Amino acid sequence: MLRPIVPLSDIKSGSIMRILGLETTCDETSAAIVELQPDGSRKILSNRIRSQNDEHRAFGGVVPEIAARAHVEVLDGMIRDAMAEAGLGFEALDGIAAAAGPGLIGGVLVGLTTAKAIALGLNKPLLAINHLEAHALTPRLMEDVQFPYLLLLASGGHTQLVAVQDVGKYTRIGTTIDDAIGEAFDKVAKMLSLGFPGGPAVEQAARDGDPERFALPRPMFGKPDPDFSLSGLKTAVRLAAEAVQPLTDRDVADLCASFQAAIVDCVIDRTRIGIRVFRREIGTPTALVIAGGVGANRAIRQALQRSATEAGLRLVVPPPKLCTDNGAMIAWAGIERLRRGMSDTFEVAARPRWPLDEARAKPGARA
Ligand code: KG4
Ligand code: ZN
Repeated sequence: MLRPIVPLSDIKSGSIMRILGLETTCDETSAAIVELQPDGSRKILSNRIRSQNDEHRAFGGVVPEIAARAHVEVLDGMIRDAMAEAGLGFEALDGIAAAAGPGLIGGVLVGLTTAKAIALGLNKPLLAINHLEAHALTPRLMEDVQFPYLLLLASGGHTQLVAVQDVGKYTRIGTTIDDAIGEAFDKVAKMLSLGFPGGPAVEQAARDGDPERFALPRPMFGKPDPDFSLSGLKTAVRLAAEAVQPLTDRDVADLCASFQAAIVDCVIDRTRIGIRVFRREIGTPTALVIAGGVGANRAIRQALQRSATEAGLRLVVPPPKLCTDNGAMIAWAGIERLRRGMSDTFEVAARPRWPLDEARAKPGARA
């Protein structure tokens, strides 16, 4: 994929920088090469992604051991393909980046160990990237977005509102106290037998549904701290579904539409409070940004566009392929770090838990 991108005004480099990025923290295997040019423009030279949906479908969720084995089987071939698509030999790389966590430890080890081996063999810098940081910096791969900005990171494992103040400087403003938004979509899909992964299936079913048929709760709505809570909403969907058994296609569509409408209301409300907290505690955000797989949802994107407009902010949403897990975001986070002189030693360890904002993370929290 060759993509000329508007120069980023705070990024100029002395020479071309090219990084190979590996992503293996969950159920996508990805290898990508991203290039930064001296004028600050970026190109995704390749972004190979293989999803493990087929391997996990029968279990209705990601099975860690199966995920790790599947990463091992395909990663080397995908790196070769990514290099060939970019038309580069390994010597043209300036560094090797891999997601080093948070995530399923078996998979993380596959990507990080592979990156260490390549970096050692080539004698090039190693970049051990926080997967959440990669999501957080993705908007800057696509557009000229300056720090600080407000990020809604919403994926299968995480739901957080984060002030992105600089590379390596993040303040968590809000988080979910139970399920992540993507997880709620996945669980609702499972209970309605819509398959895996759930987000796209629920969104598709909701298209023909009546969002007002089922009166579902909007947990945390109006609360002064911009935290999320989704498990009560998920339970309410289950109770509503049990009350209309056997479910027809219309019932399923209406349940999905009502569920999605409740999520949209929560996202709008929590983001509005998040912007208020950002202005009070951090300063003026340059943009509202969404990242993570849930960013692929059109209803949520449209709702956030309204929130951003109301707050006088620009909304930046990466294209769906860069919202869900991918190697290009890891390569880009590697570029952001390497050009600031940051890199890692070979002692760096894979981390199942790795909060973006260590100071505000609860003990034992994944992120
Ligand atoms: O960022 P991601 O690819 O992986 C994680 O790091 O979790 O996000 C995957 C999550 C899944 O829970 C999936 O159901 C959700 O993002 N997702 C969506 C949509 N597409 C993916 N949720 C709602 N609507 C969608 N269209
Ligand atoms: Zn992710």
